[in-house]
Amino acid sequence: MASRSIRLAVIPGDGIGPEVVAEGLKVLDAVSGDLTFEQTSYDLGAARWHRTGETLPDSVLDELREQEVILLGAVGDPSVPSGTLERGLLLRARFELDHYVNLRPVKLFPGVDTPLAGVATDDIDMVVVREGTEGPYTGVGGVLRKGTPHEVATQESVNTAFGVERVVRYAFEVAASRPRKSLTLVHKDNVLTFAGDLYQRVLKRVGQEYPQVTTDYVHVDAATMFFVSRPQRFDVIVTDNLFGDIITDIGAAIAGGIGLAASGNVNPDRTAPSMFEPVHGSAPDIAGQGKADPTATVLSVAMLLDHIGEGDAARRVEQAVSDDLAERAALGARSTSQIGDAIAKRVSG
Ligand code: NAI
Ligand code: MG
Repeated sequence: MASRSIRLAVIPGDGIGPEVVAEGLKVLDAVSGDLTFEQTSYDLGAARWHRTGETLPDSVLDELREQEVILLGAVGDPSVPSGTLERGLLLRARFELDHYVNLRPVKLFPGVDTPLAGVATDDIDMVVVREGTEGPYTGVGGVLRKGTPHEVATQESVNTAFGVERVVRYAFEVAASRPRKSLTLVHKDNVLTFAGDLYQRVLKRVGQEYPQVTTDYVHVDAATMFFVSRPQRFDVIVTDNLFGDIITDIGAAIAGGIGLAASGNVNPDRTAPSMFEPVHGSAPDIAGQGKADPTATVLSVAMLLDHIGEGDAARRVEQAVSDDLAERAALGARSTSQIGDAIAKRVSG
């Protein structure tokens, strides 16, 4: 690997966040070779909110913009009102840094248990391309007469031709790069007729540029069923922000659990740094006990390496994870750092 230096922002966050991030960085260090990461750690999350009332201050956002890539653990704590950190920190970062692709691979590694019967490793291998900056997550809407019997709450789904096209285009690129070259639009176009129709028309139009990719459509409710009954049906999925959030939790469940699910909040145009993070949250129930599985974070590190153009290093991390997972059942319970050490040893050895 040629000598290269990358500015990496690290947001360990709350609960198990710092524990799993430490292992992700351990593996990153082991795989780096001549690649160096200039790390800056940012203290964001529940503790900072309690101390200062801040979630993601403008000054920190400005600093993050100067970084090349971000690794996030998880944020959230029962002591912080629901929505405060989700909207003020996570969603704000995704919107401000224009993470219009939320990339979530759903892959069953050899030796990993799935709750589905009769499913082989190859049957679960898909990538969900979830829209990240629009849909029902924009915060458009409001409340009237709050707390009265006449309360009105609206939460609108915002979908723009621009926003839909760029995420659909990205999904076609992902599909074109994979052996099956199949792209499924997941939506609810029979009920959400305006947004669903926009997605359908954009899919059709952009699809003309990708004749090698086959496309189809599945309603989101049917998709939840197929995730469980016939996961091999899917290769690449493109879907709206909310639907993507929901179906990827099912994806995590069928592919070995939340401890293995990785994700990237990607700005494909590279106008701002992308942010990689495990799908799971801060798991306050097991925080501080060394029980958290760092694998999702390590796989997020592999995605981060891919994003910065270090595909070889990414493949080595994935292979090390795959080898570790294959032997896991025989090894019995290991601590967070024991798993991190084992994977780091494999990538450097
Ligand atoms: P969670 O993902 O933190 O935990 C759900 C369950 O999975 C818990 O039983 C937990 O122990 C287990 N779990 C999670 N990660 C694990 C790991 N790496 N290894 C082993 N077990 C693991 O979701 P929950 O409980 O709904 O939320 C807890 C907090 O995290 C909340 O404050 C929530 O807002 C926040 N959260 C933050 C996210 C983020 O930072 N991106 C995403 C999801 C939730
Ligand atoms: Mg979620």
